Amino acid sequence: TFVVTENCIKCKYTDCVEVCPVDCFHEGPNFLVIDPEECIDCTLCEPECPAEAIFAEDDLPEDQAHFKEINAQLTKEWPVITERKEPAADAKEWDGKPDKLALLER
Ligand code: SF4
Ligand code: F3S
Repeated sequence: TFVVTENCIKCKYTDCVEVCPVDCFHEGPNFLVIDPEECIDCTLCEPECPAEAIFAEDDLPEDQAHFKEINAQLTKEWPVITERKEPAADAKEWDGKPDKLALLER
Protein backbone atom coordinates (compact mmCIF):
# COMPACT_ATOMS: atom_id res chain seq x y z
CA THR A 1 0.00 0.00 0.00
CA PHE A 2 0.96 3.65 -0.29
CA VAL A 3 1.09 6.00 2.69
CA VAL A 4 0.64 9.76 3.08
CA THR A 5 3.28 11.19 5.41
CA GLU A 6 3.94 14.26 7.52
CA ASN A 7 4.73 16.80 4.84
CA CYS A 8 1.12 16.71 3.61
CA ILE A 9 0.00 18.30 6.88
CA LYS A 10 -1.04 21.94 6.37
CA CYS A 11 -0.21 21.73 2.64
CA LYS A 12 -2.89 19.35 1.37
CA TYR A 13 -2.32 20.04 -2.30
CA THR A 14 -4.84 17.31 -3.30
CA ASP A 15 -3.24 16.65 -6.73
CA CYS A 16 -3.00 13.05 -5.58
CA VAL A 17 -6.74 12.36 -5.45
CA GLU A 18 -7.38 12.94 -9.13
CA VAL A 19 -5.17 10.09 -10.33
CA CYS A 20 -6.24 7.36 -7.93
CA PRO A 21 -8.20 4.77 -9.90
CA VAL A 22 -9.84 3.29 -6.81
CA ASP A 23 -10.67 6.42 -4.80
CA CYS A 24 -8.64 5.56 -1.74
CA PHE A 25 -7.96 9.05 -0.45
CA HIS A 26 -9.82 10.28 2.62
CA GLU A 27 -9.85 13.92 3.68
CA GLY A 28 -9.41 15.52 7.07
CA PRO A 29 -9.18 19.23 7.96
CA ASN A 30 -5.50 19.63 7.03
CA PHE A 31 -4.26 16.21 5.87
CA LEU A 32 -5.18 13.35 3.58
CA VAL A 33 -4.75 9.63 4.13
CA ILE A 34 -4.80 6.53 1.92
CA ASP A 35 -7.05 3.58 2.74
CA PRO A 36 -4.61 0.66 2.97
CA GLU A 37 -7.37 -1.82 2.22
CA GLU A 38 -8.32 -0.11 -1.05
CA CYS A 39 -4.92 0.89 -2.44
CA ILE A 40 -3.89 -1.35 -5.36
CA ASP A 41 -0.29 -0.10 -5.49
CA CYS A 42 -0.71 1.48 -8.90
CA THR A 43 1.99 4.08 -7.98
CA LEU A 44 0.23 6.91 -9.85
CA CYS A 45 -0.24 9.22 -6.87
CA GLU A 46 3.35 9.26 -5.67
CA PRO A 47 4.81 11.56 -8.36
CA GLU A 48 1.74 13.83 -8.29
CA CYS A 49 2.35 15.16 -4.80
CA PRO A 50 4.17 18.53 -4.92
CA ALA A 51 5.15 18.03 -1.28
CA GLU A 52 6.60 14.56 -1.96
CA ALA A 53 4.56 13.26 0.94
CA ILE A 54 3.48 9.93 -0.58
CA PHE A 55 5.59 6.79 -0.21
CA ALA A 56 5.21 3.12 -0.90
CA GLU A 57 4.96 1.33 2.42
CA ASP A 58 8.24 -0.46 1.73
CA ASP A 59 10.02 2.85 1.03
CA LEU A 60 8.73 4.72 4.07
CA PRO A 61 11.52 6.70 5.69
CA GLU A 62 12.18 5.41 9.19
CA ASP A 63 11.05 8.62 10.83
CA GLN A 64 7.71 8.36 9.00
CA ALA A 65 6.92 4.76 9.91
CA HIS A 66 4.16 5.80 12.34
CA PHE A 67 2.17 7.24 9.44
CA LYS A 68 1.23 3.76 8.31
CA GLU A 69 -0.97 3.37 11.38
CA ILE A 70 -2.18 6.99 11.15
CA ASN A 71 -3.42 6.38 7.57
CA ALA A 72 -5.15 3.15 8.56
CA GLN A 73 -6.87 4.79 11.53
CA LEU A 74 -7.97 8.10 10.03
CA THR A 75 -9.29 6.41 6.88
CA LYS A 76 -12.05 5.02 9.08
CA GLU A 77 -12.97 8.46 10.39
CA TRP A 78 -12.73 10.69 7.33
CA PRO A 79 -14.78 10.87 4.08
CA VAL A 80 -13.47 9.96 0.64
CA ILE A 81 -12.14 12.80 -1.55
CA THR A 82 -11.97 12.35 -5.33
CA GLU A 83 -11.79 15.89 -6.69
CA ARG A 84 -8.88 18.24 -6.44
CA LYS A 85 -9.46 21.44 -4.47
CA GLU A 86 -7.43 24.54 -3.66
CA PRO A 87 -4.47 23.73 -1.39
CA ALA A 88 -4.11 25.46 1.96
CA ALA A 89 -3.56 29.17 1.28
CA ASP A 90 -0.19 29.04 3.04
CA ALA A 91 0.76 25.60 1.70
CA LYS A 92 4.07 26.84 0.29
CA GLU A 93 5.15 28.18 3.66
CA TRP A 94 4.45 24.87 5.36
CA ASP A 95 5.99 22.69 2.67
CA GLY A 96 9.12 21.12 4.16
CA LYS A 97 8.61 22.36 7.72
CA PRO A 98 9.58 19.72 10.30
CA ASP A 99 7.48 18.43 13.19
CA LYS A 100 4.06 19.07 11.72
CA LEU A 101 2.46 16.02 13.33
CA ALA A 102 1.45 18.07 16.38
CA LEU A 103 -0.55 20.30 14.02
CA LEU A 104 -2.59 17.47 12.52
CA GLU A 105 -6.27 18.24 13.02
CA ARG A 106 -8.55 15.26 13.49
FE1 SF4 B 1 -4.49 5.20 -5.28
FE2 SF4 B 1 -2.60 4.08 -6.76
FE3 SF4 B 1 -1.95 5.88 -4.94
FE4 SF4 B 1 -2.78 3.49 -4.15
S1 SF4 B 1 -0.90 3.92 -5.30
S2 SF4 B 1 -3.43 5.48 -3.33
S3 SF4 B 1 -4.27 3.00 -5.75
S4 SF4 B 1 -3.17 6.26 -6.76
FE1 F3S C 1 -1.16 15.82 0.55
FE2 F3S C 1 0.44 15.67 -1.49
FE3 F3S C 1 -1.98 14.80 -1.74
S1 F3S C 1 0.33 17.34 -0.05
S2 F3S C 1 -3.12 16.12 -0.39
S3 F3S C 1 -0.46 13.97 -0.38
S4 F3S C 1 -0.84 15.93 -3.24
